[in-house]
Amino acid sequence: MASPEYHIPEARIEALREDLRHHEHLYYVLDSPEITDAQYDQKMLALKTLETEHPHLITPDSPTQRVGGKPREGFLKTPHSRPMLSLDNAYDEADLRAWDTRVREALPSSEQVRFVCEVKLDGLSLALHYAGEPGTHASLLRGITRGDGTIGEDVTSNVRTIRSVPLSVAVSKLAKAALPNTFEVRGEVVLPHLAFQRLNEEREAAGMAPAANPRNAAAGTIRTLEPNIVAQRRLEFYAYFLLHGMGPNAGEMLLATQTEALEALRQAGFRVNPNIAIADDVDAILGFIAKVDALRDHLGYEIDGVVIKLDSVAQQRRLGFTGKAPRWAIAYKFAARAGVTQLLAVSFQTGRTGKITPVANLNPVLIGGTTVARATLHNADEIARLGVRIGDFVQVERGGDVIPKIIQVIEDATHPRGATEIAFPTLCPRCNQPLLKAEGEVDWRCLNTECPARISEELLHWGARNVMNIEGLGDAMVAQLLAPRDADGVAMIAPTEAPLDDEEQAIAATLEPTAKPTGKPTQPPLIRGIADLYTLSKSDLVALERVADKSAQALLDQIDRSRSTPLARVLFGLGMRFVGERTATLLAQHFGSLDAIMAATPAELEAVNEIGPRVAESISEFFSIERNRNLIARLKDLGFTLAAEKRITTDTLAGLTFVLTGTLPTLTREAAKALIEAAGGRVSGSVSKKTDYLVAGEEAGSKLDKATSLGVKILDEPALLLLLEAEGPTLKSQE
Ligand code: IVH
Repeated sequence: MASPEYHIPEARIEALREDLRHHEHLYYVLDSPEITDAQYDQKMLALKTLETEHPHLITPDSPTQRVGGKPREGFLKTPHSRPMLSLDNAYDEADLRAWDTRVREALPSSEQVRFVCEVKLDGLSLALHYAGEPGTHASLLRGITRGDGTIGEDVTSNVRTIRSVPLSVAVSKLAKAALPNTFEVRGEVVLPHLAFQRLNEEREAAGMAPAANPRNAAAGTIRTLEPNIVAQRRLEFYAYFLLHGMGPNAGEMLLATQTEALEALRQAGFRVNPNIAIADDVDAILGFIAKVDALRDHLGYEIDGVVIKLDSVAQQRRLGFTGKAPRWAIAYKFAARAGVTQLLAVSFQTGRTGKITPVANLNPVLIGGTTVARATLHNADEIARLGVRIGDFVQVERGGDVIPKIIQVIEDATHPRGATEIAFPTLCPRCNQPLLKAEGEVDWRCLNTECPARISEELLHWGARNVMNIEGLGDAMVAQLLAPRDADGVAMIAPTEAPLDDEEQAIAATLEPTAKPTGKPTQPPLIRGIADLYTLSKSDLVALERVADKSAQALLDQIDRSRSTPLARVLFGLGMRFVGERTATLLAQHFGSLDAIMAATPAELEAVNEIGPRVAESISEFFSIERNRNLIARLKDLGFTLAAEKRITTDTLAGLTFVLTGTLPTLTREAAKALIEAAGGRVSGSVSKKTDYLVAGEEAGSKLDKATSLGVKILDEPALLLLLEAEGPTLKSQE
């Protein structure tokens, strides 16, 4: 604020945008943020406030404009500047050598040949068009899917929400060569494993069938008609081509070599995959392939091979294209991570919320270097869809981090069909109580809150990294804590199956207890639920198998430390159905204390952004169960705070008058009103000089015109939510 030009709103706005772009690049492209999320939010709020005061200065490439596109009816078909081709494949060394020979034969023997090796990302390709002022900057104009290669679909509103896609590029930054003001970037959109898992957890919680793999999920997401949903999915874009944008050269490579293009893209702020190598011959290519293959399980996203390209664009031109693929590039494909094996049996697992998951026990088969002996069958509907029977030969697929799953039943002469139908149980496999399936849901559930399987899963969830983060409260420990003990205090563990989705637990389950318990169970289990964890003593723990003095103390320290966990995580840890991390955070922010949440009626719960009737009902039901209320009472006695650090208080918006108009992207009119009123604000029906803010959504009419003419500040939904999160004094100091 020191320099005088900050008095000009244009200059202040542009400076804030540059600053935000810089921090977004650090965060979303380089993974190395330099400021906290709260500091970022402050800057964003400052920009939003300025932009609402000067709406005529809002440009589509402003960092405030990523989300906000309205739901769409469909996507416009759009032709590509040049076809988006596919690649020929190589499956082994011989294929690569044959290609290398073809390339060299097509070039004068005096010329040196250099290849660039890149990872082959397993997502979907996109073309991004940029246009702008010569020598200054270019803005994202549109994003188009590959489609049939010639015509794709314009998915711009969704592409804008991908944070690693720059909305604005400083053209002067683009390499040494003078660049045209229009260019095209091509690359791949992927859904990282973590985002994929989160998506599937949400889908399962909502009773929907999980997405089969990250590529399908990414493809489905980019074609979603609601940009708001796309924004939450955390897609990533990796750039790998830089092309001319318009005119006679449209679609041609912009720089002399692929390596220069990748470097220019990186400098311009795009995410470029760091796993790249230059190779002069096939041996070097094979070396890179081996390296990437070893990395494959640790990348955090799916790849399915390596792409090898001739580096020189002049040489690429000489080689040209076959019908549908360039001769100057080839895709080395990794062996598919799928195999055929026999389904030996199906077992059923009871999860934390009582959900019963059928698990296929397979004749162990080596798939991509890992032995797969089990795969998920998801639910009864999935078994019916596959039409699978015990004894069938099935095709099994696994991704890097993805739980192995059965793709289909193999039906041919060499693979006879099994005869035994899979009988879905009617009783819980663990506690024998009847299972129930609610109307409109796919899952059968055990409703017994005392079911040992559920309690064990509850404890594992409580200890999880994103909940209480109690290291050492793994599968083996929980099993010992919950088992009855013999006269010597040795836990008598019934053999159970490791849950599928946790490598750590799977390993723990393979470790045989060293000392077998003797005699009859004469002592009760050490604990019966979450609250009992906090009464454990060191002597209790050292009596257990494989627990030394030091690890017992470490576990106790971590349990003790968990008492100061923030409310949102405690809420998430309680394991209410449909209450994931995000919903828990919203609840904590809105109500401020667990008492307030417990006291809330379903209607009051539904006043919270994103909480619908089903979630509200699930929360109310949770608190109506005596066992859960007892747990909460005990947590209070144990010193849990159960109140949010920062919450929306009744005076956050005290003294401010709001008017609502138009349709907001996620909040209903009533929900927005309730939020404002809960924060102490007043909602009035008509705009006057006394109105402090107009909250405007899509198709805002005369109120917007009146507010504009009266100089009333205008907020969109994200700006309103930011305002609600801001503390009262911060808000005032910004006025
Ligand atoms: S270059 C002329 N580079 O693989 C077409 N493609 O099988 C050149 N892909 O449709 C594509 N990573 O979706 C290229 N580093 C990479 C890639 C890559 C993934 C995908 C892309 C393409 C498909 C071809």
